[in-house]
Amino acid sequence: MKSGDAFGFSRRGVLVGGSAAGAVLVHAGPVQAAPAKGDVPVTMPVSLEVNGTRHDLQLDTRTTLLDALREHLHLIGTKKGCDHGQCGACTVIVNGERINSCLSLALQHQGDKVTTIEGLGTPDKLHPMQAAFIEHDGFQCGYCTPGQICSAVAVLGEIRRGVPSHVQEDIVAAPAVSNQELRERMSGNICRCGAYSNIMEAMQHVAGESA
Ligand code: FES
Ligand code: FES
Repeated sequence: MKSGDAFGFSRRGVLVGGSAAGAVLVHAGPVQAAPAKGDVPVTMPVSLEVNGTRHDLQLDTRTTLLDALREHLHLIGTKKGCDHGQCGACTVIVNGERINSCLSLALQHQGDKVTTIEGLGTPDKLHPMQAAFIEHDGFQCGYCTPGQICSAVAVLGEIRRGVPSHVQEDIVAAPAVSNQELRERMSGNICRCGAYSNIMEAMQHVAGESA
């Protein structure tokens, strides 16, 4: 992971910038003196490659990757559920790995390659995982689905690369990927509609095709 210093901003600078606003929200008492203008950069430039297109943005240092995608690039396929890293609705793929975009500052992704649900496929040319979710009814309301699909695509990539999980022994015991293995790896993606069984079917479908 690249350090912030390599891009001209420091962790302290980002945190100080964030805490100035936080202090206003948290303290009900007398208003504290604001930091002198110019002490802390409020916005900074960041360059992201999203779905194959480079975007040069000027963002508040506290902007999460999720908000940069939704509010600044208008890629609203990525959903905000809990905004606290608990539901997985905001999952996107960064440099081939899935992350919760609500937990990550956009500035941490200078130069990174980000793939959102919009970048996986199009209505005319669906990604195999998107097609499998449709075929196996892997959703009901659909709110969690972009995150589920991004996560599912990345999970199959993890398994191909041999990235271990808590139930890795199952992979060793059985060449085919077990539902237990998939459920473990997908456990960070919550579906309030309970479409889990169908999501497993969709993932097994794609795993079988790409085996
Ligand atoms: Fe990011 Fe819930 S919105 S994990
Ligand atoms: Fe409704 Fe998952 S399909 S929350």
